[in-house]
Amino acid sequence: MRFLLSIAFGLISSLPAYAAAAVAGESTPAPLAAQVVKEGMAAAVNGKKFYRKCSACHRATGEGIPGSFPSLNKEIDTLASSEDGRSYLVAVVYNGLRGKLETQNGTFRGVMVRQAGGKSPADVADLLNYIVGTFYKDSDVTAFNADEVKAITTAQGRLGSNKVLALRPKAQ
Ligand code: HEC
Repeated sequence: MRFLLSIAFGLISSLPAYAAAAVAGESTPAPLAAQVVKEGMAAAVNGKKFYRKCSACHRATGEGIPGSFPSLNKEIDTLASSEDGRSYLVAVVYNGLRGKLETQNGTFRGVMVRQAGGKSPADVADLLNYIVGTFYKDSDVTAFNADEVKAITTAQGRLGSNKVLALRPKAQ
């Protein structure tokens, strides 16, 4: 529920843009409250569905498996709080990850293959919002959206999974 609310707040914060468009007579926005609830719900369901791909390794709870699969319920909100961290998270989903990964709950030397095949930038945004919104209940991290994901992947291009680790912000 909190997650839906945070998505709704994210959309509501873009209200001035809609309002300005309406005043300028450019478009007649649909009733916003109804739209917010509808999009918030659909996005949450979509993100949850995508996350099923991850849960075999990172577990449904995001706690991972010590020594094998890193947790997604400890540091991802911190990563999602900085621009570099957000780019890194998007890069992991689009390119995979390989190499010596040092996290707050252990060191991993594993291989994760890319997960974004057949998915749109909106799907990836929904996925990352699901992770942050579900595993970090009190997080005030800004929601990802399709435009941001697209801008990041356009800037990065396709990367080898062994190049992604270098993008992880060092100081946490
Ligand atoms: C087959 C197992 C597997 C699946 C499925 C998988 N991952 Fe991973 N993931 C890994 C491994 C292994 C690593 C660590 C790689 C390393 O050691 O360099 C990792 C690392 C990560 C990291 C980096 C964590 C950090 O603290 O920097 C993120 C983020 C991540 N995965 C997200 C996801 C998401 C999101 C999905 C689903 C779309 C997913 N993974 C699916 C195995 C998996």
